[in-house]
Amino acid sequence: MTLLVTGGAGFIGANFVLDWLAQHGEPVVNLDKLTYAGNLETLASLEGDARHTFVQGDIGDFALVSRLLAEHRPRAVVNFAAESHVDRSIHGPGEFIQTNIVGTFQLLEAVRAHWGSLSADEKAAFRFLHVSTDEVYGSLAKDDPAFTEAHRYEPNSPYSASKAASDHLVRAYHHTYGLPVLTTNCSNNYGPFHFPEKLIPLMIVNALAGKPLPVYGDGMQVRDWLYVKDHCSAIRRVLQAGRLGEVYNVGGWNEKPNIEIVHTVCALLDELRPRADGQPYASQISYVTDRPGHDRRYAIDARRLEAELGWKPAETFESGIRKTVQWYLDNPQWVAHVQSGAYREWVGKQYSDTPAVAA
Ligand code: NAD
Ligand code: DAU
Repeated sequence: MTLLVTGGAGFIGANFVLDWLAQHGEPVVNLDKLTYAGNLETLASLEGDARHTFVQGDIGDFALVSRLLAEHRPRAVVNFAAESHVDRSIHGPGEFIQTNIVGTFQLLEAVRAHWGSLSADEKAAFRFLHVSTDEVYGSLAKDDPAFTEAHRYEPNSPYSASKAASDHLVRAYHHTYGLPVLTTNCSNNYGPFHFPEKLIPLMIVNALAGKPLPVYGDGMQVRDWLYVKDHCSAIRRVLQAGRLGEVYNVGGWNEKPNIEIVHTVCALLDELRPRADGQPYASQISYVTDRPGHDRRYAIDARRLEAELGWKPAETFESGIRKTVQWYLDNPQWVAHVQSGAYREWVGKQYSDTPAVAA
């Protein structure tokens, strides 16, 4: 038995692979293109582990995926591979269309052909799990109920539109061809190995570097935060027992405005690594130009996953964010290595209004 994981050198995929191999003997074939977001250093602890086979390649490469499926005969494919950063999708949507839509289509085509060649028992046991996002549902007003799986799709950014398209393709392959698919739509993750272009790791690394902490607009946009290892446990549970063709929303019941997140990170750093001058890290907060089309609020109703499959997150926001800040304090080398020339180029482009962030 083997799993084929795509995007397993990125933030969530790598956490999934590490947790999977810590808990199971079942091998993982990890297909990742190694874009700027893919990082083999995250998987360094698996060096020499025969259960982990890394393959650099594109989910859109039909021939490569077909070969991997034929060679390794995985019992399931877990698809994390994507372009994932909303701000990058605003600067350049092309890669998002290519990987998230065309790539998922090619991946589905290769999986469909392979699945069609399996015996009846193998076919019945096979799973294609597609990892998606709450952003496909659009934006909520302050008092709207949280997103259920029945919420209509109203994506607002090129990123969320491309993820929505991929979700629709996955759904269509189930309804048209009978492919045994599962889809998860999760809220904002945070935790170890998170690339510091996203809010929480960016705030931690900028705070420690003495740089401004760029808060978009009024900082009152709300996100629902889930510790990454809880997302991984939800995916494992859906893979194990999810109903075929079904969608499961995954969330932590942790709705918080961005500015509160930034203050929490600052307070933890004040406690764990106080500034040499005794000033609070919150003094580095700087309000900057808002993200175009910025969704105001996301909130996930995870009751289906909890009631049907008995899943519950293990971390509260308080325990998860403390572990996360501590992890960044303990792993300065990982951070230094991902802050390459390409990273500096991105930060320079995104925060050009606030040169001190980009410096
Ligand atoms: P990430 O950007 O950290 O990692 C993406 C990984 O995919 C990278 O390793 C990259 O090299 C790889 N990749 C990109 N294009 C590829 C291609 N064409 N072929 C093969 N590999 C490719 O993303 P993440 O935050 O780990 O997100 C993983 C998945 O989870 C994505 O599908 C994302 O939409 C979804 N998601 C993310 C969050 C979140 O908060 N980060 C929340 C819900 C859902
Ligand atoms: O909701 C799930 C989604 O969460 C995933 O599908 C995406 O892949 C993931 O990137 C994340 O999207 P967000 O846009 O919510 O995450 P990000 O960390 O980029 O931003 C979180 C909030 O913080 C958002 O309201 C924008 C704001 N923000 C972000 C950055 C990078 C700032 O105020 N300042 C910043 O510098």
